[in-house]
Amino acid sequence: MDRFSILVGDITKSDAQAIVNAANTTLLGGSGVDGAIHRAAGPGLLAECRTLGGCETGQAKLTRGYNLPASYVLHTPGPIWRGGDYGEAALLASCYRSCLALAEAHSIETVDFPSISTGVYGYPMAQAAGVALKAIMDFLREHALPRRVRMVCHTEEAAEIYRQTYNMWYAGEKAERLLSPEDKHPSRGSGA
Ligand code: APR
Repeated sequence: MDRFSILVGDITKSDAQAIVNAANTTLLGGSGVDGAIHRAAGPGLLAECRTLGGCETGQAKLTRGYNLPASYVLHTPGPIWRGGDYGEAALLASCYRSCLALAEAHSIETVDFPSISTGVYGYPMAQAAGVALKAIMDFLREHALPRRVRMVCHTEEAAEIYRQTYNMWYAGEKAERLLSPEDKHPSRGSGA
């Protein structure tokens, strides 16, 4: 069962239970995917964000999805790329882990990510893809939820970079590595 996939699309149209917003630390909206999500969600999203008191880079906060098809938005400020020697990779990995952990804590089963930090924040796409995929795969290996995670790239070029990175590191072990703990130990799972 493939729990992870990569696609090209507009994340505001996603039917996942939760979509991730590449936010800034104020959580009060912006351009890029942040702007698109706030536009699609409507004013209720900003109103709820105002109650959250911001969010640290690498952390995540949950809101409802309002007018979005998604029920929830996981807001996470990614790192601003400053050349790679300022802890950017660790902070980016933390964005993915924090969103997945928050989704699991709220029993959210399907999560769609945009390519965090690779727009306004300038993180080179190929390097971001390696960090993102490792963080996602490591989490899926150890957790049964979310049961489905997708990377929603805005362009075919971005998706190709993610696909190449994925195939380089994970294609060979896809079945084994991405089985949820229950799948690996049928005695513990529902056996479904
Ligand atoms: N669906 C999916 N992906 C999208 C969409 C969309 N509708 N719109 C943009 N993207 C992609 C971009 O192409 C990029 O690859 O999301 C990725 C992240 O780009 P940004 O949205 O610019 O986010 P980021 O680089 O993390 O910068 C965050 O920008 O919008 C502000 O408030 C935000 O200050 C914060 C900063």
